[in-house]
Amino acid sequence: MSDVCKIELAGQTYELPVITGAENEKAIDISRLRQETGYITLDSGYGNTGSTESEITFIDGEKGILRYRGIAIEELAEKSDFVETSYLLIHGVLPNQQELSAFRDQLTYHSLIHEDMLRFFDGYPPKAHPMAILSSMVCSLSTYYSDSLDPNNIGQVQSIVPRILSKLRTIAAYSYKKSIGQPVIYPKNNLSYCANFLHMMFAVPSESYEVDPELEKTLNMLFILHGDHEQNCSTATVRIVGSSDANLFASISAGICALWGPKHGGANQAVIEMLETIHKGGGDVKEAMRRAKDRRDPFRLMGFGHRVYKNFDPRARVIKAACDRVLSNLGVQDPLLDLAKRIEEEALSDSYFLDKRLYPNVDFYSGILYRAMGIPTEMFTVMFALGRIPGWIAHWVEMKKNQERIGRPRQIYQGATNTSYIPIQERS
Ligand code: ACO
Repeated sequence: MSDVCKIELAGQTYELPVITGAENEKAIDISRLRQETGYITLDSGYGNTGSTESEITFIDGEKGILRYRGIAIEELAEKSDFVETSYLLIHGVLPNQQELSAFRDQLTYHSLIHEDMLRFFDGYPPKAHPMAILSSMVCSLSTYYSDSLDPNNIGQVQSIVPRILSKLRTIAAYSYKKSIGQPVIYPKNNLSYCANFLHMMFAVPSESYEVDPELEKTLNMLFILHGDHEQNCSTATVRIVGSSDANLFASISAGICALWGPKHGGANQAVIEMLETIHKGGGDVKEAMRRAKDRRDPFRLMGFGHRVYKNFDPRARVIKAACDRVLSNLGVQDPLLDLAKRIEEEALSDSYFLDKRLYPNVDFYSGILYRAMGIPTEMFTVMFALGRIPGWIAHWVEMKKNQERIGRPRQIYQGATNTSYIPIQERS
C-alpha cells in the first residue's frame, strides 16, 4: 500500500500523495496543495524542498554516499577519466568504445574559440577575477551560435554541448594567461582533455612543455569529483534559469556566478586564503577554532560544513587520501597540508563541530592539490566550474526532457498593507 500524507487545515483534512525515490527517499507531493487548500509551504533555503525528480546523482548525506548514475564516486575517481564521466553524466550510461572515441573527438575538435573573442580579454582590468571573465565569456560565446540557441531543439542542443565543454576549458586557460601577461597557448589536438588544459595553462611559446602524467591523472580525479552534486546552489540556478527557456550558454553562465560565492564553490579559494592567514600568524589553530565558534565573529572555518553531508563528504576523503601521494610524487612540501590536517583533527574532537555535524567538505583539501599542481589561488573556483560543467549540462538537459514548468517560487508577503501615495512636499 502506498503512503499517503494527511494534513488538517482549518478543520478540513486533505490527502497528499507520497513519492518514493529509487533509494527509498520519501517526499510529500504538494504540487496541488495551493490549488486545493489555498496554503503554500515556507522553506527558507529550500532545506526541505525537492524541486524535481532526477535520475542523475544520488547522495546519502548521513552515510556519506555519492553516486553518479548509480556508480560510486570512489570507483569513478579511481577507474574513469573526466571525459568518460562527463559522457556518463550527460547521456546516463557509460559509453562503449565507439561512443567514447566519438565524444573525445568532439571535445578535441571544438576547442578553439573565435579569434575575435581573444580581444575581449584585453578589456578586463589585470586583476579581474577569472570567474567574472568565465561567466561573461560563456554568455558571449552564445552570440557566435545564434542559429543553435533554441533550447527545445534537441539537434541544436546536442551541437552546443561538446562546444561548451571544450571551449570553457580554453577560455579558462586563456584568462589565466592574459592575467599574467603571457601569450595564449592554443589547444593541441594530440592531447587529452585534461592534458590539453594543463598545456594551455603552463606552456609558453619559447620552449616545449611536456604534461606531467601525475598532474593529468590528478586533474582527471579532481574534475570527476566535482562533476555533479544534484540540486546544489549553482545547479539549481542552471535549472531555474533554463526553465525560462533561456539558452544553455546563458544558463551555464548563471551557474558560474552562483558557484562563485564563498559559501559554495568559492570556498576552495577561501580555504587556502584562510590557511595562509593562519600560517602567517604563527599557525594558531586553537585561536582559529575559538573564532569559528564565536557567533559574534563572522569568521567561519572555510571548507567545513555542508547542507547535505552530516557525517563526511566522500569527495573530501578521496582528495585527502590523494594529497600525501600526489605531493610526494610531485616533490612538493606544503606546510598548509599539515596545518589543514591539524585543523581537521582539532575540529573533529571539538563538541561545537561534532554537535553541529560539521565535517571537511570537498573544498577543504582540493586547494592543497591545486596549489601543488601550480594552479594559482584565484583560479581554484574556475577549476571547480570546469569540473561541474557536465553536471550542469546533464541537469539542464533532463529538465528540458521532462518539460518542467518555469521555476517560480512563491512568498508570504510581510510588508506594508494598502497605503496611499504621499506627494513629496507632504512627507515628513
Ligand atoms: N564554521 C563554523 N560554524 C559553522 C560552519 C563553519 N564552517 N558551518 C556551519 N556552521 C554553524 C552555523 O553557524 C550554524 O550554527 P547555529 O546553529 O548556532 O546558528 C550551524 O553550524 C548550521 O550552519 P548553517 O549555515 O545553518 O548550515 P547551512 O546548511 O545553511 O550551510 C554551508 C552550509 C553554507 C556549507 C556552511 O556550513 C558554511 O558556510 N561552510 C563554510 C563555507 C564552505 O565550506 N562552503 C562550501 C560548501 S561545499 C560546496 O558548496 C561545494
